[in-house]
Amino acid sequence: MTKRFLSGIKPSGDLNIGGYIGALRQFVQLQEEGECFFFIPDLHAITVAQDPKELRERSRQLAAFYIAAGIDPERNAIFMQSHVPAHAELGWIMETQAHFGEMSRMTQFKDKSAGKDNVSAALFTYPALMAADILLYGATHVPVGDDQKQHLELTRDLATRFNNRYGKTFVVPEPMIQEVGARVMGLDDPSSKMSKSNPNASSYILLLDEPKLIRKKFSRAVTDSDMSVRYDWETKPAVSNLIEIFSVFSGMGIGEVEKHFEGQGYGNFKKELAEVVVEKLDPIQQKYAEIVHSEELDRILRRGAEQAAQVANETLRSAKDAMGLLLL
Ligand code: TYM
Repeated sequence: MTKRFLSGIKPSGDLNIGGYIGALRQFVQLQEEGECFFFIPDLHAITVAQDPKELRERSRQLAAFYIAAGIDPERNAIFMQSHVPAHAELGWIMETQAHFGEMSRMTQFKDKSAGKDNVSAALFTYPALMAADILLYGATHVPVGDDQKQHLELTRDLATRFNNRYGKTFVVPEPMIQEVGARVMGLDDPSSKMSKSNPNASSYILLLDEPKLIRKKFSRAVTDSDMSVRYDWETKPAVSNLIEIFSVFSGMGIGEVEKHFEGQGYGNFKKELAEVVVEKLDPIQQKYAEIVHSEELDRILRRGAEQAAQVANETLRSAKDAMGLLLL
């Protein structure tokens, strides 16, 4: 069976290297291995209030980053979730299949709603829409970071439940979580995920950060008390996180990185780390600047939405038919 990959990054904050390492970088590699659908889940972004102007800008920026990072729009559909109405429609159908109890156990919902008044109902039903995103395209594989694992398990459960009730309609997808870089942690605190929503800007590196800023942020990154560049999440989480980032950006294995820095202190390690990141981001930033305001980007998104809708509408129709919704 040919592999079908689907994934997306929310336009809810500026893209940082966590999303690049955990997701976007994988997307680029996977285009060689099967059919790909890479989208921008803007309907998921609005489960928390967004400034309209910023949301619009960030959506465009993300699409430009997809292309700048190396996704070939000629070969793969790149599209906005809100441009394909089937997502919202199948999202509703998946809500009818999801149980209140299992949705209540989603750790992302618990984290995002903790201590907040007036959380949107959509933040709660978010994973049902995510299941719809995946199932609409018959995705066999979903490349994501570690934090999406539970959502993927729920997607598998919902697909299986639906298939058992109404007959085989959906492909049950496999999550694809990398060994290195599945969970990039904050530079200020290795116990919390690198996140665009962290108020401390030194905790993350944005894809658009300038070289000077990247060097400054890495020089401030927390390390551990002993001085060796050694990979051990138990006793040296901060350095292990930096080693993973180095490994991904340099293409060196973890062992090779340790060897490379044997007998050297953290100062040198952080300097080289900043340089490999700067070097890798430079061509992406240049390409991004060429595309982000171009009309070509609009054409790519329009074409992507048309291609995606063809596949999505067919699955939606089968699902409705299987459930007994009257089709004309
Ligand atoms: P989002 O937008 O929070 O993150 C996008 C992708 O980046 C990964 N990621 C990370 N990986 C490693 N380290 C980090 N610090 C890090 N931060 C983010 C995430 O795991 C994710 O793969 N619900 C999804 C978006 C979504 C989706 C989908 C994904 C909606 N529908 C269907 C796949 C398939 C989300 O909020 O990701």
